[in-house]
Amino acid sequence: MPEPLSLARRLDRVSASQTQQVLLAVEALRRQGVDIIDLGAGEPDFPTPEHVNAAAVEAIAAGHTKYTAGPGIAPLREAIAAHYRGRYGIECTPAHIVVTSGGKQGLSNVAMALFGQGDEVITHVPGWPSIVEQIHLAGADAVRVRTAAEEGFDVRADSILEAITPRTRGIVLNSPGNPTGAIMRESELSRLAEGVAGRHIWLILDLCYEQLLYDETPHNLPGVLASRVPGQTVLVGSASKSYAMTGWRCGWILAPPAIAAACNAVQSHSTSHATSITQHAALAALTGPQTCVDLMRDEYRTRRDALVGWITADDRFKITRPAGAFYVFPDVSALLSPEGPRTSSDLALALLNDAHVAVTPGEAFDAPGFLRMSYAASMEQLHEAWARIQRYLS
Ligand SMILES: Cc1ncc(COP(=O)(O)O)c(C=O)c1O
Repeated sequence: MPEPLSLARRLDRVSASQTQQVLLAVEALRRQGVDIIDLGAGEPDFPTPEHVNAAAVEAIAAGHTKYTAGPGIAPLREAIAAHYRGRYGIECTPAHIVVTSGGKQGLSNVAMALFGQGDEVITHVPGWPSIVEQIHLAGADAVRVRTAAEEGFDVRADSILEAITPRTRGIVLNSPGNPTGAIMRESELSRLAEGVAGRHIWLILDLCYEQLLYDETPHNLPGVLASRVPGQTVLVGSASKSYAMTGWRCGWILAPPAIAAACNAVQSHSTSHATSITQHAALAALTGPQTCVDLMRDEYRTRRDALVGWITADDRFKITRPAGAFYVFPDVSALLSPEGPRTSSDLALALLNDAHVAVTPGEAFDAPGFLRMSYAASMEQLHEAWARIQRYLS
């Protein structure tokens, strides 16, 4: 008998996304005609702004439908550099920028370019699962540092510094964070940067939700890193969340030019470059009017405040107020018991099947006992979802 065919060993430690599994379950129920309110989604419910769509149509009409330069078209790289210069006051040029097919590919290129066998890379949990899986795919070991709900999921410099070993090659931070909505404090990042300055440790900052901040809290994390560890810093951004462009697949890397070139080398052997039409759409998004971003942000803020208010009034849920992104991440352990639902996964399943509300269980983010609810849904839907959850729980 021949040996059964097997997968590559690198897949031994990689698991499929649980957030995708929620999506599949929702789709299956909808096909049966069940009316589901989806608070599981990790994407804006707003349409892509009209002027962005128009730029893509114009790009097609103008024949921008062929290969582009690997790191992206020159005006888009300049627009991205201008965004970081203007917003954070950091020095950068198109040579620092690589346009990618989404922030996810940006982070993946960075992991492949910087990490390998025998390396340790620290990140914080609860966190977005792809960060850990990408570290594993690059052959390195992920070291998870836990943040605490009682501390508002604050990423503490000390906890990260304590996790450093001689094998540490990188630290991946995400602020505003998915699933917690928490932001890292400038003072903590500053202490962390001082602790790693001059060491062979990369600081990678996932800023995909950078424009979705709801309070006045300072958040110039790129500025902090640029002033302390410019040669060790890599930023990753995205058009997905700020401009409601998830399906277009456009993100970017901002890194010292030699690192940007290495990330481009990785990308040149996989996708080559982000879609030409998408690049023109993203250029319109970054250089066009920003009122669409302000309007979406204001609406998310209203929804956050409403949802946090309702959840806080129910003492079976424990919640910290998120400062950014579009998720709330309450502790639901008071609703779990040996008689059932026993886990937050069981609870999420029960809410889906019995209350017809889709949420994502904390297990998907390495945080059993929590639920992630997205407020990238209309106020009306949020209202109805909360009413259904309350009816189910009573
Ligand atoms: C924390 C975080 N980083 C990066 C991404 C990547 O998004 P995209 O690839 O659409 O830019 C996501 C998407 O959900 C995310 O939640």
